[in-house]
Amino acid sequence: MFASLSQQAKRLLQAEFPDLEVDVAWERPSARDHGDCTTTVALQLAKKVGRSPKEIAQFLVDGLQNMPDVENVELAGPGYVNVRLTLPALLKELEAAMNEAKPKESKKDEGPVIIEYSQPNIAKPLGAHHIIGTAIGQALVNIYRHAGHTVIAWNYLGDYGTQFGKLSVAFSKWGTKPVEQCSVDDLLDLYVKFHEEAEQDKALEDLGRAASLRLEEGDEELRAFWKKVVAITKESLGELYRRLHVSFDLDLGESFYEDKMVPVIEEGKAKGVFVEGEKGSLIVQFPNDLYPPYLILRGDGATLYSTRDLAQMKYRMETYHPQAIFIATDIAQKLHFEQLIETCRMLGWELPEFENILFGRMRFVEKSMSTRKGNILKLEHVLDEAVERAQKVIAERGDAIQTDEPAALAEMMGVGALVYGILSQNRKMDLVFDWEKMLSFDGNSAPYLQYTHARARSVLRKAEQEVSVQGVTGVTAMAPHDRLLVNTLLQYPTALQEALDTRMPHKLANYLYQLAQDFNAFYNAESILQAEESLRKLRLALTLLTADTLRAGTALLAIQVPDRM
Ligand code: ARG
Repeated sequence: MFASLSQQAKRLLQAEFPDLEVDVAWERPSARDHGDCTTTVALQLAKKVGRSPKEIAQFLVDGLQNMPDVENVELAGPGYVNVRLTLPALLKELEAAMNEAKPKESKKDEGPVIIEYSQPNIAKPLGAHHIIGTAIGQALVNIYRHAGHTVIAWNYLGDYGTQFGKLSVAFSKWGTKPVEQCSVDDLLDLYVKFHEEAEQDKALEDLGRAASLRLEEGDEELRAFWKKVVAITKESLGELYRRLHVSFDLDLGESFYEDKMVPVIEEGKAKGVFVEGEKGSLIVQFPNDLYPPYLILRGDGATLYSTRDLAQMKYRMETYHPQAIFIATDIAQKLHFEQLIETCRMLGWELPEFENILFGRMRFVEKSMSTRKGNILKLEHVLDEAVERAQKVIAERGDAIQTDEPAALAEMMGVGALVYGILSQNRKMDLVFDWEKMLSFDGNSAPYLQYTHARARSVLRKAEQEVSVQGVTGVTAMAPHDRLLVNTLLQYPTALQEALDTRMPHKLANYLYQLAQDFNAFYNAESILQAEESLRKLRLALTLLTADTLRAGTALLAIQVPDRM
């Protein structure tokens, strides 16, 4: 951004300090009315060149004074250089920023980015908490793709392990109909019953473990049962993912690595990384006890979650040569991934960039949502509740909301409110769900962004004319609200980049909220359609850019916005 200003400043500095390599970056002043952009370059250089920051800043002020793009430049604070651009220059910046924020052509010459998220366990309905990782993962997939990266969106299904053994035992004891006819809820009931009964009857746990071992060994009957259960679960997941605008390229789950674990175990033993632990188990011991020992193989020979994760890492690296692997999980898995990555290093594997995309726990302000049958709060119920509440909000607002499709609008608002409720908060913190806040029309919420978008589109419909930044001419002065809005629009590419670099979708969400606020302030303070011709064109162009940015930005968060509302 502000490329010609950067060039000019660089030229000045290089003439004055010939041996210096400098880049001059411009950002938005933190006091938002202190110009269009500011640089801290004088503060950074002061030590290096042995002059005071103010001296250097003043030197830049004098040099930039007469640039044709500059309306005003001044020294501020300890050595900031604050610039106000001329209107034509500002509009040129705006065009450049909007181009920069467009989806990039896909980069063919780099490995893919693997983003793994959602990862539900089979035979259980999707729990409410699953929406957190699912929403964060999908937002990151969208943001990375938008930036031109090839992304593999991966649902690593939990389709293996002791829960199957338990389920098959429960099914043979208490099942009342063929598996094919069971819903995921029926399967959950069986699973819950298993745990209730196992509290009295300790032998059940052993039966479950034995069954899962037999499944691992290839018992045909158990395998057939397992396959049906996987199919039932996948089908029920599909509908929820559709409602959330979530989709995956792959759903290869834990079971896919069944035959890929033995070579890894052999490798680990040969390299002396896996050593014998208690009762014939295999463990990794970390140098200086960096982490607690990592269990790789149980004493009875059964493989574990960790064994599959090692095989999974190896497979992904060898098959896809990814530039990065990102795995979204709840903070409870932090240690597991630290141990996993350290083990990969000890095995001498060359890892791509890796991050365990951590997120916090979820809590509802209203107690009624916290527990239901089997201690699972089903995501489906939460989505339905959100949509019902959105319906009420729409009904209460009466004529203030205009829509031809109230049901579709309620779905968009309700689901959007939940997803935005997640994505607008720092993912590392625990999440507190507050329906009032999530569905409010004037807070940091999806309905607020949706309403603002619809408002902007409505202005554009009423204008009945071609609108574009290029078409803006002859504006001599603009109001402070115009300028603030221009400046906020200019920040869109930066917000996208920050969300990508930190893998924190809330950076984008909060930017969109700021944009919506600045648009509404502008809308309330200035006349748009009634303004004199050249200003009217400018304001309509800003309205269009706001609407387009809100739509594109929310789409990256997997949230939709209506044209009317
Ligand atoms: N299915 C697991 C769970 O529900 C999460 C999987 C995380 N990913 C991984 N590669 N281990 O706890």
